[in-house]
Amino acid sequence: MSTLDFLVRKDRLTKTELRETPAIPLAAGQIRLGVDKFALTANNITYAAFGDTMNYWGFYPAAEGWGRIPVWGFGTVLESGCPGIAVGERFYGYYPMSSQIVLQPVRLSPAGFFEGAEHRAALHAVYNSYARCAADPFHTVQTEDVEALLRPLFITSWLIDDFLADMDFFGAGASGNGVALLSSASSKTAYGTAFQLAQRTGIAVIGLTSAANREFCNSLGCYHRVLSYDELDRLAADLACVFVDFAGNAALRREIHTRFGNLKYSCSVGGTHVEQLGGAKDLPGPRATLFFAPAQIKKRTAEWGTQELGQRLLYAWQAFVGKVGDPAAPWLVVRHHSGPDAVSAAYAEVLGGRGDPRIGHMLSLAPHSPV
Ligand SMILES: NC(=O)c1ccc[n+]([C@@H]2O[C@H](COP(=O)([O-])OP(=O)(O)OC[C@H]3O[C@@H](n4cnc5c(N)ncnc54)[C@H](OP(=O)(O)O)[C@@H]3O)[C@@H](O)[C@H]2O)c1
Repeated sequence: MSTLDFLVRKDRLTKTELRETPAIPLAAGQIRLGVDKFALTANNITYAAFGDTMNYWGFYPAAEGWGRIPVWGFGTVLESGCPGIAVGERFYGYYPMSSQIVLQPVRLSPAGFFEGAEHRAALHAVYNSYARCAADPFHTVQTEDVEALLRPLFITSWLIDDFLADMDFFGAGASGNGVALLSSASSKTAYGTAFQLAQRTGIAVIGLTSAANREFCNSLGCYHRVLSYDELDRLAADLACVFVDFAGNAALRREIHTRFGNLKYSCSVGGTHVEQLGGAKDLPGPRATLFFAPAQIKKRTAEWGTQELGQRLLYAWQAFVGKVGDPAAPWLVVRHHSGPDAVSAAYAEVLGGRGDPRIGHMLSLAPHSPV
């Protein structure tokens, strides 16, 4: 048995390699999972772009100079040295772009387990938790692909909306004419955020996107208005607004901070515009502040309890999945890519960032891919 890994050069994300290595025997307590399938979106490219600074390369170490990008997906237990985890069990969680992975489960529960490997101990718990599909309320067999593609993103979307509402939109909604400006409006995390924000009153949601993705954003129906990046001057300069930034484009951020004198808050969430990223120092207006999802989870867990928070998220997720998968007008169309060549090609497409935003890419390096 061997393992196939998709490797990316850390300092040049366009350079990739597929490497096959013999599978290592399991140590006591370990399990081997076949990585059945996983999603690839700009979020994973951001993991790679910030691999060193935010330690995303730390999850799945590779040979010197190379990295394995973490992805969200499903794995099935092929071999188990861990009592309480059976061969054939299926888990949702954080995997490498590989055909197999060895994990060291700890803190087992009916819901799942946490990865206990020493090199992952300092990494955030959200990335170290694996859910048993059979016991997971978010999971249905029919919506697996959508789950891999959207679940980690939508949780962030939901938390951003909750955070902004919790903070009263930093005063932007007080006039009744407040606006939330969302960059990279065609991204899944942005439209998940817009889906939530659009359910509130007193705040309009304006999507900013590239000219090519305008129509797509309009078709979603969750933005009150959609503008391309060169149309900012169509908005009144004294607009009371908050900026939720998924693009991370330094020039766009400066333009927004400079143009809108009534910008109440600037929330940095992502960096889809990988070639235009830049610092956020010496900007007019409020400080660009990194959105830290775990902080909002912690706050709501303290206020509502884990169960209530989980319930609210689940209801919102179910409503979102219903909308996204509406057969009459789907927001997301899944495309499967199986095998080394197809995975390499899909990676290049997502990295380039010029593809159809309606497509969600599901990949697999499994020898007998179930996708
Ligand atoms: N902080 C957090 O906790 C957190 C959690 C989830 C996601 N995020 C971040 O949110 C961002 C969106 O992630 P996603 O997975 O939702 O994205 P996605 O759906 O894959 O986004 C695709 C869109 O991003 C833009 N884009 C992607 N690659 C590009 C490139 N190379 N050059 C220019 N534009 C490009 C384009 O949008 P436009 O044409 O509309 O610009 C494209 O339609 C990521 O940066 C991700 O890391 C952060």
